[in-house]
Amino acid sequence: MSQPNPLTVAVVGATGVVGRTMVAVLGERDFPIGELRLLASGRSAGRTVDVRGRSIEIEEARGEAFDGVDIALFSAGADISRDLAPQAAARGATVIDNSNAWRMDPNVPLVVSQVNADDLAWHEGIIANPNCSTMQLVPVLMALRDSVGIERAVVDTYQSVSGTGAEAIAELEGQIRAHVAGEAKQAGVYPHPIAFNALPEIDVFLDNGYTREEWKVVTESRKILHMPDLRISCTAVRVPVFVSHSEAVHVETREPITPERARRLFGEVDGVVVNDDPATHAYPLASDAAGRDEIFVGRVRQDPSIPGDRGLAFWVVSDNLRKGAATNAVEIAELLLERGWLRARSRREAVEAPA
Ligand SMILES: NC(=O)c1ccc[n+]([C@@H]2O[C@H](COP(=O)([O-])OP(=O)(O)OC[C@H]3O[C@@H](n4cnc5c(N)ncnc54)[C@H](OP(=O)(O)O)[C@@H]3O)[C@@H](O)[C@H]2O)c1
Repeated sequence: MSQPNPLTVAVVGATGVVGRTMVAVLGERDFPIGELRLLASGRSAGRTVDVRGRSIEIEEARGEAFDGVDIALFSAGADISRDLAPQAAARGATVIDNSNAWRMDPNVPLVVSQVNADDLAWHEGIIANPNCSTMQLVPVLMALRDSVGIERAVVDTYQSVSGTGAEAIAELEGQIRAHVAGEAKQAGVYPHPIAFNALPEIDVFLDNGYTREEWKVVTESRKILHMPDLRISCTAVRVPVFVSHSEAVHVETREPITPERARRLFGEVDGVVVNDDPATHAYPLASDAAGRDEIFVGRVRQDPSIPGDRGLAFWVVSDNLRKGAATNAVEIAELLLERGWLRARSRREAVEAPA
């Protein structure tokens, strides 16, 4: 390993639901941290947070805060990432960004740890972490791409409110309390009450009629899987679940495949667990996945609407805050360390080039 050890790590958005999960996951996995900088808005600056028995003061996220930082995990929204990620990278930090600011930039690798880790080799200081719905989908699609080929995929999501952030969690709790008290439900974060509802609107509407969340699943899946022409469509729905996203997935494969073989292939993917026994009502549940790092797959069955045994239907569930955001970001950081790729490619080449 060519990098200094232990490292100076910054978490931007450290007071948010993803940022707090990032801090927890770094600790759980014993990531080699010498100094941990917790950055957020000026509103939180000066507050202290207890991290594994140590009190750390939150600092305002500004360019100077990245001096001496080796790895910066960003999770404070796209505007902050657009502004501060290049500043952090210019100061020598490797940025792993959780927002949608850089994901489709052709010069920025978009990486799911068990799918396309080799893409990390060409980073220039900023690496993008995919959207949570894409994250749990692509390792499962990878298993089909590599075995029987994929002709087309249709994905319908059932996404938890923690995917929106801390305010949305509070909004669902408030609406549940209002319902029990017989009061009107106040909607603020979402355009309609989310309690006891299902909202087919996540992120803004685009000109093509899709929401941006749905289009992220389309474009990010193509980039991560290296399948620029993949035929894929998505409907993204917000549901009154606190943690974990669920997805109903229909795939048309190039060659025939049985559900038994698909279960075997899914189970062989690192970090994917098959839970599929209808006789005992065993299938992945959001409540079981919450707090876990794995991606769970079940309800695997033939899709009879596709001829020749080339259709599969299945259900994919994962914790959107962990594998969907924080865990994958930390896994990327671990891969960079293992492979000696912490420094941007251009700076590695400058050091390695013969005099
Ligand atoms: N939630 C998920 O499942 C998920 C999954 C994938 C990606 N993401 C992405 O992760 C990011 C954060 O999501 P979240 O769910 O953690 O949101 P959140 O709970 O609302 O937290 C937002 C964080 O951003 C910080 N922030 C806001 N304005 C800032 C500013 N001007 N300067 C510095 N920091 C600022 C907040 O700090 P203060 O407390 O000081 O306001 C807070 O730490 C978003 O880009 C989101 O799209 C989320």
